[in-house]
Amino acid sequence: MSDLLPSLEKLRLRHSSKWRRYNSDVLPMHVAEMNYEIAPSIKALLTEFIQNSDIGYLGPVPEVAESFVGFAQRRWGWTPDPAQIRISTDVGVSAIALLQTLGTPGQRVLINSPVYSSFYSWIQDSNLVVDDVPLVADDDTWHLDLAGIEAAFAEGVSFYLMCSPHNPMGAVFSAADLEVIADLALKYGVTVISDEIHAPLTYADQTFTPWLAVSEAARKTGVVITAASKSFNLAGLKASIIVTQDQDMFKRVSQVTPALHWRSGILGAFGMAEAFANCESWLDQAVEANRISRDYLLEKIAKKLPGVQTWMPRGGYLAWLDVTALNIGHNPALKIVEEKKVAFVPGVDHGPEYTQYVRINFAASKADIDASVDALASYLNA
Ligand SMILES: Cc1ncc(COP(=O)(O)O)c(C=O)c1O
Repeated sequence: MSDLLPSLEKLRLRHSSKWRRYNSDVLPMHVAEMNYEIAPSIKALLTEFIQNSDIGYLGPVPEVAESFVGFAQRRWGWTPDPAQIRISTDVGVSAIALLQTLGTPGQRVLINSPVYSSFYSWIQDSNLVVDDVPLVADDDTWHLDLAGIEAAFAEGVSFYLMCSPHNPMGAVFSAADLEVIADLALKYGVTVISDEIHAPLTYADQTFTPWLAVSEAARKTGVVITAASKSFNLAGLKASIIVTQDQDMFKRVSQVTPALHWRSGILGAFGMAEAFANCESWLDQAVEANRISRDYLLEKIAKKLPGVQTWMPRGGYLAWLDVTALNIGHNPALKIVEEKKVAFVPGVDHGPEYTQYVRINFAASKADIDASVDALASYLNA
């Protein structure tokens, strides 16, 4: 972990949004990027490209599809078709391109709140309409509401934008649930866009099922959008992939402008290929560091924040906290950053009804986690 985690002083020299959005007296626990150093071989590759002034337009990069196929086989026992893997800008651009190209204005897109805030803007930017079937919480995690999803499909939803694994609570959906949804999508003619950007971060003791490995029905109805950006900390490089595994769906998705390839970047594409091909030992280390941080955070919450409910992430580095018991006001994250100088993502960003929640990024040091929990604890009996 110490190899992965630079000091806070060094982190504060970073130029990304996480370190610039607030003043330097704020501890940023909000944006979903890890505080870790990137994998040494990606660093070396990017440095070599820069040293050779090799930063022109992106040409053919078969290495991306080849490396992703190998990664998917090793990680999930899934063999994608390299001929159906397209390079695109980032996952957000891919989602909007798919929704705009395959949809017509006014069609409805199912999501499951609470969900990553950009899902709302991607749908709005595509002139489509959000249709929410919220996840259902138990004490351990949040689940898909299969009956609610079927009802929405039956009522004429055109697309299902799935977050798998799910941001913000790190839920990993079962193959059985995904199989049911795939059959329903086929029955009701719904196109599933499965955002699997968090999948490589699934913990070693969990099983992630890629949408296109679920069943024939899933392959007929679905498209996966993903990237190395989230799991290998390369978000600024703007590269992603769009994956299908059915000739008819491939044809549909091929209507999306081929220019998406050129709108990605050479560093991003080759960085992604390097990540998928050669960086799994770094990834395993990062995933294990995240799991250790998760346990540390949950233990601290249990000890220091009575009444604050949280759930067990199955992967990633995000946790979802119900802070109702702290009585912080109508937007707790806003108040906390103003008063305690710790930045969380406001619950309402994930759906209008989640006012009393905050999301924390725990890919950080124990000291940062301590400071975050202490900031919340200061509202106990305040
Ligand atoms: C589920 C999900 N999809 C997509 C993204 C953003 O991906 P990109 O930067 O490739 O658009 C994030 C970032 O946090 C995310 O959580």
